[in-house]
Amino acid sequence: MNRLNVHFHGIQQSDPVRMGTLVWHDQRAWFEFDSEFLDLGFNPSPLLLEKTTKPQPAPISPFGGLHSIFHDSLPDGWGRFIMDRYFQQCGVSHNEITPLDRLAFIANRGMGALTYSPPHSTAPTRSSQEPLDLTKAAATASDLYGGSVSDVDQFFASNGTPAAGGQPKLVIGYNGSEVVEGSGRLSDSFSHWLVKLSSATNPTARHVGTVEYVYAQLASIADIHMSGVRLFRGEKGHSHFLTRRFDRKRHGQRLFVQSASSLLNVDSRNAELEYSDLFKLSDFLTRNYAHKLFLFRQMVFNITAGNRDDHPRNFAFMLTETGEWSCTPAFDICWNIGMAGKHALGVNGRHKEIARSDVLEVAKQASISRRDALKTIELVIDALSSCRSLLREHEISDEHTRTIARYIERQQQEFAINS
Ligand SMILES: Nc1ncnc2c1ncn2[C@@H]1O[C@H](COP(=O)(O)OP(=O)(O)O)[C@@H](O)[C@H]1O
Ligand SMILES: [Mg+2]
Repeated sequence: MNRLNVHFHGIQQSDPVRMGTLVWHDQRAWFEFDSEFLDLGFNPSPLLLEKTTKPQPAPISPFGGLHSIFHDSLPDGWGRFIMDRYFQQCGVSHNEITPLDRLAFIANRGMGALTYSPPHSTAPTRSSQEPLDLTKAAATASDLYGGSVSDVDQFFASNGTPAAGGQPKLVIGYNGSEVVEGSGRLSDSFSHWLVKLSSATNPTARHVGTVEYVYAQLASIADIHMSGVRLFRGEKGHSHFLTRRFDRKRHGQRLFVQSASSLLNVDSRNAELEYSDLFKLSDFLTRNYAHKLFLFRQMVFNITAGNRDDHPRNFAFMLTETGEWSCTPAFDICWNIGMAGKHALGVNGRHKEIARSDVLEVAKQASISRRDALKTIELVIDALSSCRSLLREHEISDEHTRTIARYIERQQQEFAINS
């Protein structure tokens, strides 16, 4: 695949609009905006793309010669694994696959508002009319990982569309009780959700959905806005975490979302990046103090609640219907010990053993008032007081509850106003 059309959905009445063309040449992608798109007056990648119809080459690093805005349409982890299996099945060897092939595979199934044509595969996915059994889907996902199911088309046909992120997940339609395939238009009573399937084979991963659900409750007490969440209890103690998609409206209309990783052209393993870079990005895009404070609340929460998987792909911005940038609701907030106990994003140069004084220093540098910083810390550590009882109420094992609660209680002491 050497040439792809990029379409932008979710803007004005003429939906979708052709945004431009991607060409693969000389080990990298070149992107040309359509002049009609530029006439709409905004730049979807303001730090990296220029508003010109001239071909713009992608930097080779960090996304293998693909512009970060398009790389953001590609899944990592589980979604990438499915894709690799698909190409293997088509007889395409690994070193022949270009990023444009991957985008063509995603076609119109991606998150956010960009779609790509022509598609690589026309294999049918499951229709959105039949109910979907999440317990079976979780088992098939494990079989696919384990190698006992190898046919990706068959996976699509029986389970629907896999989505982005590290952990197996599907895009679904959900009406409060029934689940259906969710990549296309849904009937009126259904809305668009994502489900993270808890592993059917790994017993320690069984409760991961429940812990994420408890963390969503804690985040909400700490005034951290998330999309709607639900816990879907499957068989044998498995619980699947459901989150309502903020990049889809009721009738399937798409909203444009871009991760901080993409906006800044840094990959999620970049060790140099700090929370202060996120605050600067928020100021640049939204010029809105409330958004910066929202990100600051997430930072304090992640540090005190032990969510060390706080890499830049777990923060995103979206274009609202009025054409303004805003933070998306928070997502992927869970107990996570990260790599060697380190936070992905730094705080005042530290990734571990981050102290209250580091948080206050970062607030000062980001022009967050001391009063707001102190109020935020107090709000978050108060919210976390419900941690032990919520974990127990949701039947998380005593051992796991102890591990999480002890960490949080230590952090509460460290961050207490008098410390
Ligand atoms: N509620 C949501 N609405 C829209 N997109 C979402 C939502 N939650 C997550 N996502 C997108 O899906 C990706 C994977 O979800 P995430 O919760 O980060 O899973 P993982 O634990 O596998 O990293 C995110 O990077 C984000 O782009
Ligand atoms: Mg994630």
